[in-house]
Amino acid sequence: MNILSIETSCDDTGVAVLRAQGSERPRFEILSNVLSSQTEIHEQYGGVYPMAAQREHEKNLPAAIARALKEAGKVKIEYVVVTNGPGLSPCLWTGVNVAKETANKLGVPLVPANHVEGHVLVSLFSHGRKLELSDGIFPAVALIVSGGHTQLIVVRGLRDYEILGETRDDAAGECFDKTARILGLGYPGGPAIAKAAESYKGPETDLPRPMLHSPDYDFSFSGLKTAVLYHHREQPDKVLASPDYVPQMAYSIQEAICEVLVAKTKRAAEEFGAASIVLGGGVAANQRLRERMEKIGIPLLVAPPELCTDNAVMIGIAGYLTILSGNIEQEVTADPNLRIV
Ligand code: KG4
Ligand code: ZN
Repeated sequence: MNILSIETSCDDTGVAVLRAQGSERPRFEILSNVLSSQTEIHEQYGGVYPMAAQREHEKNLPAAIARALKEAGKVKIEYVVVTNGPGLSPCLWTGVNVAKETANKLGVPLVPANHVEGHVLVSLFSHGRKLELSDGIFPAVALIVSGGHTQLIVVRGLRDYEILGETRDDAAGECFDKTARILGLGYPGGPAIAKAAESYKGPETDLPRPMLHSPDYDFSFSGLKTAVLYHHREQPDKVLASPDYVPQMAYSIQEAICEVLVAKTKRAAEEFGAASIVLGGGVAANQRLRERMEKIGIPLLVAPPELCTDNAVMIGIAGYLTILSGNIEQEVTADPNLRIV
């Protein structure tokens, strides 16, 4: 079955065509994967500006859909899948409306997909470069870390989720983005911090590890951002100008974020007897986080970096599981606060 999928929940316009097969053990082949990123537009705001993002999606979608269909070759599309939440309302609605028109034109059904579930599934199905299930991976504990979400989820089987905890304020990616801005690094901040930290070998700046020892599975990152802001303000110009200042701060921020994420994921994995750990979302592209997660010693399922950040492939996967369930909503509407369960 061939699926056209559309993702516009934040600042990336993604369109993909997947060939999906199997029901007990679904597997996928990527026939095309088109992505237009709006990084330059949002760089000036230091974050995503929803109305500008919506305008870009409107502008980009027709060409992205045409390109994805062309690159996939002459295949018959049987379903259109679109992200209907969570995300930025104007961006989601643009995707949903364009997906409705596209499904009408093609004469096929429209299927909604949850963005966070997409992040979980693309890593869950990542088996080397293939998109298929590995053996013995359930129950899994999934950590989804992106610019908008930080959630720990128990995955007992396909479409069987329980949310264990989530951030009470900023998302992990948001913390990377905001602290990068304080340090004068570009947007998105995660890759900028990772790059600045890459070759740093010196001592670490002492930064807080918010909620590291709290007995729950929640997170909090706004205190870390504030600590970086105050630390930065207190430094004399001479220190700020030294070549080691930004690399040391970038390294220390990355360590602080990784430590909290890894410790809570490890504890959840132990408590729930996880056979695997799933790492997904844009922050999962972070090499240091991947290394530290590997070290927990439980098999780590994580998509290649380009499928960890927002894309439409993950949306096609989530849509296919909904199609298999036979439970497809008649009227697709956007829901900015949609939950995975
Ligand atoms: O999943 P995603 O593309 O969009 C959302 O759903 O939010 O995640 C974007 C987030 C941004 O905050 C970005 O800074 C972060 O992922 N990110 C990274 C890296 N690449 C992207 N954070 C740390 N290290 C990276 N290499
Ligand atoms: Zn995302």
